[in-house]
Amino acid sequence: MTPRSFLLTAELADYVRASSEPLDDVMADLVRETAEMAERGEVSPTMQIAPEQGVLMRLLTRAVGARRAIEIGTFTGFSALCIAEGLPDDGSLLCLDISEEWTAVARRYWARAGVADRIELRLGDALASLRALPQEETFDLAFVDADKTGYPGYVEELHPRMTRNGVVLLDNTLRGGQVLEPGDESDHALASLNASLAADPRWETALLPLADGLTLLRKR
Ligand SMILES: C[S@@+](CC[C@H](N)C(=O)[O-])C[C@H]1O[C@@H](n2cnc3c(N)ncnc32)[C@H](O)[C@@H]1O
Repeated sequence: MTPRSFLLTAELADYVRASSEPLDDVMADLVRETAEMAERGEVSPTMQIAPEQGVLMRLLTRAVGARRAIEIGTFTGFSALCIAEGLPDDGSLLCLDISEEWTAVARRYWARAGVADRIELRLGDALASLRALPQEETFDLAFVDADKTGYPGYVEELHPRMTRNGVVLLDNTLRGGQVLEPGDESDHALASLNASLAADPRWETALLPLADGLTLLRKR
C-alpha cells in the first residue's frame, strides 16, 4: 500500500528506494501508520507522497539552502517532515491544511523527529490563508499538494512571495497519465496549468516524471 511512482514496476520502485538515502525511523513509522489508515479504508492510499519523492524533497531543501518554506496540503505530515529535516535549525516551515484530524497525526511525528519547533500549522482554506499572509513574508521553497483545482490560484499567490531563485514544487502534475486524456476537473486543471506554466516567462519550469509527476518552478 506504500505509494510509488506510477511509471515504475514494484521491483523498480524497490530498486530506486534501495539506491537512495533511506528514510529514517520516524519517517518509516509515519509511512507505515498512514498505510495502515489506507488499509482500513480511512484515507486514500495515494494521498501521501512516495518515499522516493520525500527523499528528493529533503535533499532539494538542503541543496537550495532554504531557510523559510511553505507547504499547501499536509495530511499526516510526511512531506512536511522531509522538508523540515532539510531545513537548518533556525529554519521554518508554514503548513496549510483544512483537516484537524489528519494533521493531528502529523504533529505527533514532528514532535518525535524533534522538528516541531520549526513547523507552524495553520488550519483553514489554504487560498484564504495564503491571501492573508503579508506580502513581505517570503519563502525560498514551496510545496503544493492540496486540492488540484486550487493549484492555479496557489501558484499565483505564491509568485510574489517567493524569493528570487526560490523553488515551487507542484505534486501530481501527471495525474497518473490522465493529463493526456483529462477525465475529471482535477485532470483538466493540471493539464491546463502545465501548458500555461511551460509558456510562463516568470518561471523556469521542469516537470519530472517522478512519482505522480513533480513540477519544479524556479522564480526568475
Ligand atoms: C494529498 S494530501 C497531502 C499529502 C501530504 N503532502 C503528504 O505527503 O502526506 C492533500 C491535503 O490537502 C488538504 N486540502 C485539500 N483541500 C484543501 C484546501 N482547500 N485548503 C487546505 N488544505 C486542503 C487535505 O486536507 C489533505 O490533507
